[in-house]
Amino acid sequence: MSSELFDLTGRVAMVTGASRGIGQGIALGLAGAGADIVAISRGSCEETEREVATLGRRFLHLPCDLAEASVADLQKLVDQAVELMGGLDILVNAAGTITRHSVLEYPEEEWDQVLQVNLKAVMYLSQAAARHFAEVGKGKIINIASALSVQGGILVPAYAAAKHGVVGVTRSLANELAAKGINVNAIIPGYILTDMTAPLAADPDRNEPILARIPAGRWGKPSDFAGVAVFLASRASDYCDASIIAVDGGWLSR
Ligand code: NAI
Repeated sequence: MSSELFDLTGRVAMVTGASRGIGQGIALGLAGAGADIVAISRGSCEETEREVATLGRRFLHLPCDLAEASVADLQKLVDQAVELMGGLDILVNAAGTITRHSVLEYPEEEWDQVLQVNLKAVMYLSQAAARHFAEVGKGKIINIASALSVQGGILVPAYAAAKHGVVGVTRSLANELAAKGINVNAIIPGYILTDMTAPLAADPDRNEPILARIPAGRWGKPSDFAGVAVFLASRASDYCDASIIAVDGGWLSR
């Protein structure tokens, strides 16, 4: 098989949540395959910037708090990326947030914030990118869903609702955009060691049953997402639309 299928040289990829965790793992994977990176994050993105530079790729940081961003702000991110990088080929919606409370007490303001960051921003950043992709006749959108796109989880009703929605939005966008040369797909991470899951990994009552259920016998790492992201961002996936790919060490099959 030709490596040209997976070559991203000259492509520009926007990655939300690129400062750390899975978003960072994906940004570095895409840069390793040749892509230039537009990183969207709230705070500093210096570590990602350094590593992208080491890989010899261009890097642009556009700071944005997705909890506060309006639809117009999201459109502006895409417009700036196109203007400053000379185009945009790939969007990865990896930023996400979670808060844990009993359903009996789940606060409304946290519901709104989790739905805003994990679902509404995914939809409207995709809309903005898709407008550009439709003009040029091609593009790739990769959404980071969750095992809680198909399971309810514990203490995370807003997160589960938003992540179920991410799969719905992925399918809905794909159905309309596939004919325009735009591939929209999603990745379901299993249990991946990042800041988001650190409280679970540190709690023996949660960690032990989680580990016991993962057929691969270990938590995932952000670098486990590089390969699947390169596949979904490259020509190799041109006939994949609304695919929901689990990268979970087998968790969902158990
Ligand atoms: P993380 O907490 O390490 O990283 C989350 C990223 O999202 C950070 O870069 C953070 O700055 C960004 N972010 C959060 N709120 C934001 C906001 N308001 N505005 C801008 N950026 C914001 O988490 P992790 O684990 O890397 O999560 C990445 C994605 O993977 C998320 O969508 C998460 O829901 C998903 N996921 C993670 C799993 C895991 O086991 N770690 C499992 C399933 C899904």
